[in-house]
This record gives sequence, structure tokens and C-alpha cells, in this order.
Amino acid sequence: MAKVILIFIIAVVAHGVFSLEDDTVAEVVNSTDVAMQSGICLKCICKDGKVDCSSQGLTTYFSKEEWAALKDFKPTVVDMSDNSFENITVMAELPIEILNLSRCGIESIEFAAFRDLQDMRVLDLSHNKLTSSLSPHVFEGRYSPQLYEPLMSMEVLNLGYNDLHSLNSDLFEHLSQLTVLDLSGNPMTTIDYRTLISISSLSLLKVLRLRSCQLTEVPEKFLHTFRNLERLDLSDNLLAGVPEELEESKNLLYLNLNQNPIRELDVNSEEYPGFPRLRKLKELHMCNMPILKKIGQGALAGLENLEKLHLSFNPQLTYISPKALARPDDIGENYDWPMVKELYMKSNGLSELDSRLLSRWDMLTAIDVSDNPFMCDCSTQWMVDTLVPIVDKVKPNASKAMVCSEPEEMRGFTMRHVHDIKRTMRCVDKYGHRPERDGAMLMGTLIGVLLAVPIMMGVILLWKRGYFAFIGFRGPTEVSRAFYKRAPDNDNFM
Ligand SMILES: *[C@@H]1O[C@H](CO)[C@@H](O)[C@H](O)[C@H]1NC(C)=O
Ligand SMILES: *[C@@H]1O[C@H](CO)[C@@H](O)[C@H](O)[C@H]1NC(C)=O
Ligand SMILES: *[C@@H]1O[C@H](CO)[C@@H](O)[C@H](O)[C@H]1NC(C)=O
Ligand SMILES: *[C@@H]1O[C@H](CO)[C@@H](O)[C@H](O)[C@H]1NC(C)=O
Repeated sequence: MAKVILIFIIAVVAHGVFSLEDDTVAEVVNSTDVAMQSGICLKCICKDGKVDCSSQGLTTYFSKEEWAALKDFKPTVVDMSDNSFENITVMAELPIEILNLSRCGIESIEFAAFRDLQDMRVLDLSHNKLTSSLSPHVFEGRYSPQLYEPLMSMEVLNLGYNDLHSLNSDLFEHLSQLTVLDLSGNPMTTIDYRTLISISSLSLLKVLRLRSCQLTEVPEKFLHTFRNLERLDLSDNLLAGVPEELEESKNLLYLNLNQNPIRELDVNSEEYPGFPRLRKLKELHMCNMPILKKIGQGALAGLENLEKLHLSFNPQLTYISPKALARPDDIGENYDWPMVKELYMKSNGLSELDSRLLSRWDMLTAIDVSDNPFMCDCSTQWMVDTLVPIVDKVKPNASKAMVCSEPEEMRGFTMRHVHDIKRTMRCVDKYGHRPERDGAMLMGTLIGVLLAVPIMMGVILLWKRGYFAFIGFRGPTEVSRAFYKRAPDNDNFM
């Protein structure tokens, strides 16, 4: 028995030793592992085609030779973010698809630095120190009979949060295939002519982000070349109205206008126009608008296919016309509404939601109208009766965040509670007057008048009879007597 166990143990140990040897042999043979021992993979983590050098405290960019040593590792994703390089130098031929150079303090990039990255789809140069002198030659690619030395595969370029005031008009001449461009967080203030020329050369662009660029307007002719533009982010700028140039983006699906100083939307106003007709737009964001007060009739009517409406955190927004989304049909007799599926109107200054704002509240798959100073009276009875069950169906107990803040006696009650106790709310008129209180006042006045009349008559009667003479008042008889007495004295003017 012991013998058998011993043999078994020896067998197991021997197997372990041999398999260890097998591994060592494989390591030497496997060329990937050779690459692992080159400079870059000693400093960074190389695994599964990914080179992760982020936050390694690197201060010089790897040389072309060092990159070349990675050839057999076949890196497709290289993350160099959060180091401090200053200068980016030319890289070797590698099958990199995603190159992250974000947050590296980059000031300059050698010409044609990425020429041999023929598979690069995504280049992230955000949060660096690139300036308006950024040259088109940086993005130079290889010769091609069709395009001008293109970086063939480039689709996504992020230049966000640099120091670009303006762009070289030829900046994207080697990047004509770009579909996504992010220029957010650059202090542009205006889209000048150079910039306009450079961006509008990107005829295949689908996504353009211009968040936080201090823009006061979107210039004419800026959007008309983007036949394919689907997503546009203009949030956190200084736009005072909905840019009319948007009319040119016929294929826009998503528009973000958050955090702009738009005061009101009114189709009839030149200064504050509503939206132009954007037939394909599905998602609109207008949140955190500091001074937005009013959305007038038809202001959103051009958005016939709107599905997601984000109108939250607009503290001054107190009025939305019941017909804000309604579009008169061709005959002009009926109205059509977009089939909104998601409605977000949280934390505004709305005292009510009008039931006519949407045609089908029951079609909503998401709704948040919490944290508004709702007036709970007969005008919002429909919210209690109809909307509360819809809100709770979409998200259980969500209607508990719809709280009454007016009138006084309803303050603090949730609409859910009012719904549960099946309360019929009274009517309070527009100026906050309460008819029942007015009734009481009227009654009081009436009683006052009814009492005052006999008292006054009594007083007059007593006065006439001279009852007040003893305290210096004279009755009318005495007054007239005095008058007639004095008259002759004043009569001798003849
Ligand atoms: C080398 O090892 C890697 C994993 O470390 C493996 O994916 C690859 O297929 C191996 N290559 C060869 C030639 O054995
Ligand atoms: C690049 O890295 C940063 C982190 O430093 C990250 O936020 C960003 O999403 C990355 N970019 C890409 C394209 O993966
Ligand atoms: C970066 O390049 C500039 C010129 O292009 C040069 O003056 C500077 O010394 C370089 N900085 C580093 C850290 O290599
Ligand atoms: C809703 O609230 C009630 C009472 O507060 C609670 O009993 C119930 O579990 C809640 N439902 C959900 C889904 O949170």
C-alpha cells in the first residue's frame, strides 16, 4: 500500500517538474514574450494586445526603435495617457487602432508622427497644451492615389481641452475620413473663417462636439456641408438663441444645448426663435439653462420625431405653452404631436404640466417631472388622476417626488397621496386668489353694509334733530338758520 502511494507521489512531482520545463521552453520560443522584454513592456503593462502605460510618470516619449521592438506583440490599443511628454515623436509601423495621448502636457507633435499607424481609428489628444499653430503635417499619412497622404483608417479625433483659439484651415486635409471630432473645451469664442473652412472640409462627419468653447453664435454656412451630421454638442456656450444655422443639419438625431443663456423660445421672435424644422431629431437636451423662462407655442413643433426631451434643472422655467410641441397639420385645422417616449422635466419652476403638452402620456417609457413647485388645484387634477399612475407604472413610487407647493393648505402633500385619498382639488385662479376666500370676504362686506346702513341712518336722524349740539355739532336746521342770518351782511356789494 505504502509503495503504491510513494510511486503515486513521485509520479505527481515528476509530472510537475516536467510541465514546468515545458512552460520555460514555450516562453523562449514564443516571440510575443520576447517583445515583452523590450523597453516598453518593462515600463508598462503589455497584455492581450494592449499596452497600458497610463500614469507611469513617463517624461520622454518612446523612440521609433523602442516602438519597433513591439512589432511582434501586435499592439492594437496603446494607452499613454496621464504622463508628461511635451513632444510626441514619430512612431514605428504598428497595428495600433486606438492611441490614447490624453493628459500628457503635449505642446508639439513631430510632422508625420503617425504615418505608419495605418490601422489607427481613434486618436485621443485631449487635455494637452496644443495651440492654434497645430500643423496639418502632424497628421500626414502615406501616399495614396485617391486621397492626399491620408491617415487611412482615422475615424475619431479628440482635440478637446487644449488651447486652440482657431484651427489651421488645412488642419484636416489628411483626415478626410473622420466621422467624430471633439473640439470641446477650447477657448474659441468665435468660429472664425479659418476654423470654419477646416471643419467644414470634413464632409463625412457624424459627431461634432463643441462643448465649452465660449461660442456666442454658430456662423452661417457652418453646418451646411455636414450632410451626415447626426450628433451635435453645443452645451456650455454663450448662445442666446437657438442657432438658425441648425436648419442645415437635416440628418441631426441628437442635439445638446445645455447650459446656454437662452432666455425664451418663441417662434415669432427674431431674437429668441424656436427650433427650425429638424425632422429627424430624436433627442434634445436643454438642461441647466440659467435664464430660460418660457417656451412658447410651437417653439418645439419643428421637431416632429422627437423621442427624448430633456428639460431639467432650469430654475427659472415657469411657463411651457400647452402647444409648445404641437404642429398644425397641412390644412391647419388639427395639430400633430411628436411621439415622445422619454420626458425629463425635473427641478424646474413649473407650477403645472398641461395635459395637452403631449398627445399620448401613456406611451412614455421614462418620465421624471419631480421637484417642481406644483400648484395642486383643479388645473392639476389630471396630474393626480392620470399622470400619477403613469409615472408609477414607469418607475414604482416615482410620483412620491411630485410634491404640491401651492396652495398653502396642500403644501407638502405628494401627488401620490392626493391620488390615494381620491381628493378632488378646488380651483384657485391664476392670481392665487381663492374663490371660497373671496366668498367669505364678500359675505363679510355684505354683513358690514347691512349693519352700517341702519346705523348710519340712525346717526343722521339723531343729527338732524340736533342731538349732537352739546358736543359742538349743529343740526342742519341750525346751519341753515346761521346761513340765512349771515346772508344779509354779505349782500351789500352793490
Ligand atoms: C504566445 O503566448 C501568447 C499568450 O501569452 C499566446 O496568445 C500566443 O498564441 C502565443 N504564441 C505562440 C506562437 O505560441
Ligand atoms: C484616454 O484615457 C483617459 C484617461 O486618462 C480616458 O478618460 C479616455 O476615455 C481615454 N480615451 C479613449 C479614447 O479611450
Ligand atoms: C520639444 O521640441 C521643441 C522643438 O520642437 C524643443 O525646443 C524642446 O526642447 C523639446 N522638448 C523636449 C522635452 O524634448
Ligand atoms: C413603494 O412604497 C411603499 C410604501 O412606502 C412600499 O411599501 C413599497 O415597497 C414601495 N415600492 C417599491 C417598488 O419601492
